[in-house]
Amino acid sequence: MSESLELQPGPLDGGDALERAPRRSQPCTMVIFGGGGDLTRRLLVPAIYNLVGAGLLDEGFSIIAVDWSDLDDERLREQLTQTMREFVAKRRASAAALNEENWDWLSQRISFLRGAFDDAKTYQTLSSLCGVGNCVFYLAVAARFFAPIVAQLEAAGLTRETESRFRRVVVEKPFGSDLASAKALNAQLLNVLDESQIYRIDHYLGKETVQNILALRFSNGFFEPLWNRQNIDHVQITAAETVGVEKRGRFYETTGALRDMVPNHIMQLLAMVAMEAPISFDADAVRDEKSKVLAAVHELAPGDVVRGQYTEGSIAGRPMPGYRGEPDVSPDSETETFVAMKLTIDNWRWAGVPFYVRTGKRLTTRKTEIAIHFKSAPYALFRDTPVEQLTPNIMVMQIQPSEGVTMQFSAKVPGPTVKLGGVRMKFDYADWFQEGPSTGYETLIYDCLIGDATLFQRADNVEAGWAVVQPALDAWSDGHSTLHPYAAGKAGPDAADALLARDGRHWLRLNG
Ligand code: BG6
Repeated sequence: MSESLELQPGPLDGGDALERAPRRSQPCTMVIFGGGGDLTRRLLVPAIYNLVGAGLLDEGFSIIAVDWSDLDDERLREQLTQTMREFVAKRRASAAALNEENWDWLSQRISFLRGAFDDAKTYQTLSSLCGVGNCVFYLAVAARFFAPIVAQLEAAGLTRETESRFRRVVVEKPFGSDLASAKALNAQLLNVLDESQIYRIDHYLGKETVQNILALRFSNGFFEPLWNRQNIDHVQITAAETVGVEKRGRFYETTGALRDMVPNHIMQLLAMVAMEAPISFDADAVRDEKSKVLAAVHELAPGDVVRGQYTEGSIAGRPMPGYRGEPDVSPDSETETFVAMKLTIDNWRWAGVPFYVRTGKRLTTRKTEIAIHFKSAPYALFRDTPVEQLTPNIMVMQIQPSEGVTMQFSAKVPGPTVKLGGVRMKFDYADWFQEGPSTGYETLIYDCLIGDATLFQRADNVEAGWAVVQPALDAWSDGHSTLHPYAAGKAGPDAADALLARDGRHWLRLNG
């Protein structure tokens, strides 16, 4: 009897068997420094609420939000309830209301501690509140507080682990502002903590679609044999945003697009696409391979990097100010809001395959994706369609806002004559898996609670990311690098197109 292959949305038969049996976290107090801030409200608490819904938190879970703002338990809970209602309202599917039972469970476990991060008294109080149990200290604060907070935690004896309790520290980005400062910060943290206690966050690794890159590559038989210089012409990595610098002008002025996005988020994407198969999915096996591939990135030539800055323009018909007109930005700022670069990887798999990267703010559309451009067929069997007119074979891994994978290839156009046309085949996460809104932090927080560091950056991973961009930072440090303007709402400066055009290639359209 012949079997028909009819696929229905949802996990395929047998797929469930691959799922790791989720286990409940152990009892733990999560101390959030910066607990009255934006990150806590917008991302951390909604993520933890989702973990409650998934039944993954222990009865003995609680949160202490530490901040110097003028809050108390009640007012913090009120603020959080308001944000939570807005968060669930974004839910596409059925349950668009806050699950009161889950929220009560969580909000009753949240308390506020008013205190300064540099005051030893804050840590004495914490010591008595935390007792002898497990703790995660989450540093949702500006980078200048990372090392001082960790030093205070250690002085108060709060970082000491025993057989029966863990003490972990989660560090947000930015982790350093160049290679030297990242190394210095690692040294400061490792002076008082063991590497196994440090969870360096890159929120891109919490995105389902980013995790799916490894699943796609290493749990299917047909991608990996093609995944090399014999078959791939080049790779394009795009992280385009429509937002400007919003209220972060002061931070962004000293950061710029390169530091903000490339050594961390973009390097993680590149590592996921280019790394060798790890020997297991253990944290160190995966992180070893990432560091290896980043170490193989060829030294970046300053001529292979383009810097841009947005000027006035419009997006979706709405006028937008130029970067120099944004709050807390200098009117003659030389900070880049866009960067494009060509990278090459010196190893047997990738020698000669360029990886083109672009990221910027106030671009025409929001889109993060990785496009693998395969080599063309070697000759045209169809005499009327020369090789160069065949539809290029491209596999696009869409990270956000669309989440999925699209394949582009040639097919015969129906009709009596042989004519080829370009077609697309699309897998869309939203069609197959009906999930509510998530923040990307769910997995990261849960993994930290259960002690799985696979999706966190090890010290050498962070340093390897900075090492890739350091030659560009050095070349720009004299303040004379060209800054190419682009109008808000465009795809970036013309110089970014020229970077590919000189290799006979072009970027995939942002609006496509
Ligand atoms: C942050 C950057 O790390 O990532 C922001 O500091 C940027 O400038 C953001 O907007 C992008 O994250 P996402 O998840 O929206 O792609």
